Amino acid sequence: MVIKKQYSERQLIKKEKGVIPEQIRNIRTNIQYLADKRNLKVIMVTSCRQGEGKSSAIVNLAYFMAKNNKKVLVIDSDLRLPTIHKPFQLQNFSGLTDFLNELMDEKETIQQVAENLDVVTSGPLPYNPTELLSKKRFKTFIDTQRVDYDFIFVDAPPSGLADSKIIGSVCDSTIIVVENGKTTKNQLKTCIDTCKMQNIDIIGVIRNKIRKKKHDSNYYYNYVKE
Ligand SMILES: Nc1ncnc2c1ncn2[C@@H]1O[C@H](COP(=O)(O)OP(=O)(O)OP(=O)(O)O)[C@@H](O)[C@H]1O
Ligand SMILES: [Mg+2]
Repeated sequence: MVIKKQYSERQLIKKEKGVIPEQIRNIRTNIQYLADKRNLKVIMVTSCRQGEGKSSAIVNLAYFMAKNNKKVLVIDSDLRLPTIHKPFQLQNFSGLTDFLNELMDEKETIQQVAENLDVVTSGPLPYNPTELLSKKRFKTFIDTQRVDYDFIFVDAPPSGLADSKIIGSVCDSTIIVVENGKTTKNQLKTCIDTCKMQNIDIIGVIRNKIRKKKHDSNYYYNYVKE
């Protein structure tokens, strides 16, 4: 999916026409096809490095899937640098961490942001993200939501962190986002090997921030099946 030059921080792409929406729809189709075929519903999005575009990819994919009549839940389980609340213009005073600490119930944790689209913000940053995500309550929460949603996208920190391994273990599959020209082959290989070692299935790779032409500062996403 293509991101234009004036791409503002954490932008939610709402327009239907243009290269960017076309790319998002393309990725959406690939994911839906593979998910159907392999019976996948809960998908983690991770990357090799920081800032490659995981959160941006999640919110736009989720938004486009919801527009396509899929019931979608986005969970911000990046408890170190949470940003999912931003494009949806939500406050992040409470969320997943409160739920995991048993301060909120399930219903209070889930917020509707658009038709067919619900979000769980991270909540206040914890001092012990890895321990919190390791709680059985996290897996139980995700498993409970499977009944109500067609797709659940789970935002995670980069794959090297223990948090991602835990998140991956409660998801059905993962998408790796790589930043074109920045992520090296070795980094991607390490990321894939890490997933494999943890038995985390990889549904595909999104290549992000590709310059369209030599002197064109547009960026776009590209989906590559593993
Ligand atoms: N395709 C794109 N074109 C241009 N800018 C992009 C694109 N995708 C993401 N960005 C920008 O790159 C920055 C990082 O994006 P984002 O926060 O989605 O990455 P992330 O992988 O979730 O980062 P983190 O590792 O910190 O969680 C943001 O400023 C975002 O606006
Ligand atoms: Mg992020």
